[in-house]
Amino acid sequence: MSNVVETWARDNVSVELHSQIPTYLEETYWWAYVHPNAVSFFERQWLVNLILWGNFVRLRDAALNELGHKIHGQTLQIACVYGDFSVKLAQRIDEGGSLDIVDVLPIQLDNVRRKLPPNSPVQILHCDSTKLRLSDKSYDQAILFFLLHEQPASARVKTLSEVLRVLKPGGKLVIVDYHQPSILHPLRYLFQPILKRLEPFALELWKQGIESWLPKGFVPAEYAKETLFGGLYQKVVIRV
Ligand SMILES: C[S@@+](CC[C@H](N)C(=O)[O-])C[C@H]1O[C@@H](n2cnc3c(N)ncnc32)[C@H](O)[C@@H]1O
Repeated sequence: MSNVVETWARDNVSVELHSQIPTYLEETYWWAYVHPNAVSFFERQWLVNLILWGNFVRLRDAALNELGHKIHGQTLQIACVYGDFSVKLAQRIDEGGSLDIVDVLPIQLDNVRRKLPPNSPVQILHCDSTKLRLSDKSYDQAILFFLLHEQPASARVKTLSEVLRVLKPGGKLVIVDYHQPSILHPLRYLFQPILKRLEPFALELWKQGIESWLPKGFVPAEYAKETLFGGLYQKVVIRV
């Protein structure tokens, strides 16, 4: 793990930086997020759409619509996303509401800050999803968009535990991520070796349901799962 210690404040967005870069990001995903050229290469809407087999807008809107066209209260987005996900999310924040965006990489936080229009009701925070420096029961809703498949199971369990901790009673967690496609889906066979090579932890989401990484003893008030694009993706909504 390498240390990042920095403090920076720009455009009324203050970012406190004192987290470490997780090993899986440095070893497995350095090319996608950590490398200094990663942002300039990947920050293209068409490329993100291509990586998601043309489903970016559909998946983005599936996640956002779950929170509504006007989103009230405190919202948490855990981990930045290439493309316009955060911009569209910020546009839906209703008057009096707020959006906190968390990521463990300063380069990604800087990138999302540049994409957001000035005066967006957004706070950008440097933190690790496995140990959020956020108060218990402080958010009305949270979004995990394609983070869990990037994490090894130990980190995935901690991320889910942390996000549930910071949600208020009755709060909603929306997860969009990979899932095992149906038996007749051609990508079940074509995409698997690509994921195995580039995103080795992702196949765990093909084999197990997200409920298997929830904290022991946690009983959701509501748990709903929907699959999309022939089962290659899933949306899970958990009400605490
Ligand atoms: C949420 S995923 C999004 C992937 C998606 N395919 C995209 O288009 O960007 C990638 C982000 O997760 C962040 N991330 C990975 N592990 C994290 C952790 N433990 N805590 C916070 N952010 C993390 C990375 O720094 C990166 O910005």
